[in-house]
Amino acid sequence: MFSYKLLFLLFFAQKVVLKKPNVLFIVVDDLRPNLGCYNYKNAYTPNIDKLAKSSFVFNNVFAQQALCAPSRNSFLTSRRPDSLKLYDFYSYWRDVAGNFTTFPQHFKENGYYTKSVGKIFHPGVTSNYTDDFPLSWSEIPFHPKSEKYKNAAVCPNKDGTLGKNLICPVWVDNQPSQTLPDMESLKEAVSFISDYKKNDPYFLAVGFHKPHVPFRFPIEYLKYHPLEKIELPQNRWRPSLLPTVAWNPWNDLRRRDDMKLLNISYPFGPMPDKITKKIIQSYNSATTYIDDLIGKLIKHVDKNTITVITADHGWSMGEHGEFSKFSNFQTATKVPLIINIPNLLQNTIYIDNFVELVDIFPSLVDITGVSKPLELCPFGTKMELCTEGRSFVRLLKDKPIKKKTLSKTAIFTQYPRPSTYPQKKPDSDRPTLKDIKIMGYSIKTPKFRYSEWIKFNQNFTVDWNTIYGKELYDITIDPEENMNLIGHPELSNIEKRLQVKLRLGWRYV
Ligand SMILES: *[C@@H]1O[C@H](CO)[C@@H](O)[C@H](O)[C@H]1NC(C)=O
Ligand SMILES: *[C@@H]1O[C@H](CO)[C@@H](O)[C@H](O)[C@H]1NC(C)=O
Ligand SMILES: *[C@@H]1O[C@H](CO)[C@@H](O)[C@H](O)[C@H]1NC(C)=O
Ligand SMILES: *[C@@H]1O[C@H](CO)[C@@H](O)[C@H](O)[C@H]1NC(C)=O
Repeated sequence: MFSYKLLFLLFFAQKVVLKKPNVLFIVVDDLRPNLGCYNYKNAYTPNIDKLAKSSFVFNNVFAQQALCAPSRNSFLTSRRPDSLKLYDFYSYWRDVAGNFTTFPQHFKENGYYTKSVGKIFHPGVTSNYTDDFPLSWSEIPFHPKSEKYKNAAVCPNKDGTLGKNLICPVWVDNQPSQTLPDMESLKEAVSFISDYKKNDPYFLAVGFHKPHVPFRFPIEYLKYHPLEKIELPQNRWRPSLLPTVAWNPWNDLRRRDDMKLLNISYPFGPMPDKITKKIIQSYNSATTYIDDLIGKLIKHVDKNTITVITADHGWSMGEHGEFSKFSNFQTATKVPLIINIPNLLQNTIYIDNFVELVDIFPSLVDITGVSKPLELCPFGTKMELCTEGRSFVRLLKDKPIKKKTLSKTAIFTQYPRPSTYPQKKPDSDRPTLKDIKIMGYSIKTPKFRYSEWIKFNQNFTVDWNTIYGKELYDITIDPEENMNLIGHPELSNIEKRLQVKLRLGWRYV
């Protein structure tokens, strides 16, 4: 019954059809899979969980780089950071890499009305100060006005003063303009859907800003996450034998007023347990807040709308003694992905196969049938429309797919550094291109995660012979990546094999 329905959908989608489905593409900033539907026990996300009950829920999805702008440009063009020449916030791919077609642009060029609300492209140079309008969007992208207070001193302190704090539960009525950015975005998105009268299907992208730091969210969401119920991660220490280059010193947390007061030792911490708990509480509360907004949004979509929920990357919450993104740890790279195709599923279909964020664009092309499938980008290409990912439409069946040929055998992530030892200036967490001296490349297979931190040249070449650090984790016995096993004699053959695979890269797995 089910497969037939899907086949039907796909079949008709490929032909010139009746009516193509709308797409609602939701991107939640910095959201790791801390959701009920991912069995995260401290979650309170009833709205997303309800949608997930009749959706494909992907369990192994990874960002290509755990930083907003590079990750977003990567999945919005289906190209890797190396192909976009973007590892920071300061270049626009059409100027420096190639006139690559974006995900919304492709829908726009194929009969869709495309609209951006909130943070889809990273604002600024990386999207030409326009969110790539007009190429990607049919109308000028919407940004909530109150986002201008995002790092302002608006967080109430105990003594009645206002601070630029990390932890920032607020009474919305007391905030400047009595609203929060994501509430404004919700309003805009709902009125877009409600007022939509055109015959063309729409592609509506909604980018929520939370749970990105600072954790500024309506205070009432704290009640779902009482402090005494928050559990600290078991692995709150630096992995044994972790090379210093792999460490991200969470500079962006330390510069907040409330964190500065704590005098946390630099660069490795530790963060006091009490504060770790508050950070987890705040992140989870901000997630519940976004879940509430998502619930209010999806109420308005009709039965002809495919809904996708994902994130640009994850966020470490004390695991490995780490916080934030800025690394190759899976806590920073792993993201949720939920796809709801109307009237298709009666229950959740979990997909355990590896998926990379670059796969979303080619997959949504196949699911909607907006055009013929995208072709794989040839090596070193300037081709405008192609993919460096792989459509996962083949995985969308009513039971898990075990066949190896259908699955990616590995996923790739990378992270740049200015130095081998963590530092504030240039910022180890967010080096600008001119300061990047090292690139950390990671491959993750079903059994291992292997990384090499190597010399990066300013002309976008790398020197694999100059290695500053290596990591090897045995995922089968150490899924949390707590023990770096590099140099372990029993694993030397594995290490060699993974090294070859890593250096060959994503095209060859
Ligand atoms: C880039 O692509 C767009 C859309 O196809 C096209 O309009 C534009 O002329 C191209 N720009 C360049 C420099 O090729
Ligand atoms: C980027 O912005 C500049 C300045 O507004 C404009 O001249 C240029 O055409 C834009 N590039 C693209 C590809 O839209
Ligand atoms: C942090 O350091 C400052 C200056 O050294 C000191 O005055 C303050 O008491 C310290 N605070 C804590 C919480 O240790
Ligand atoms: C890139 O830079 C490195 C180091 O400066 C140099 O050895 C290499 O030849 C350069 N490669 C190209 C293609 O220019």
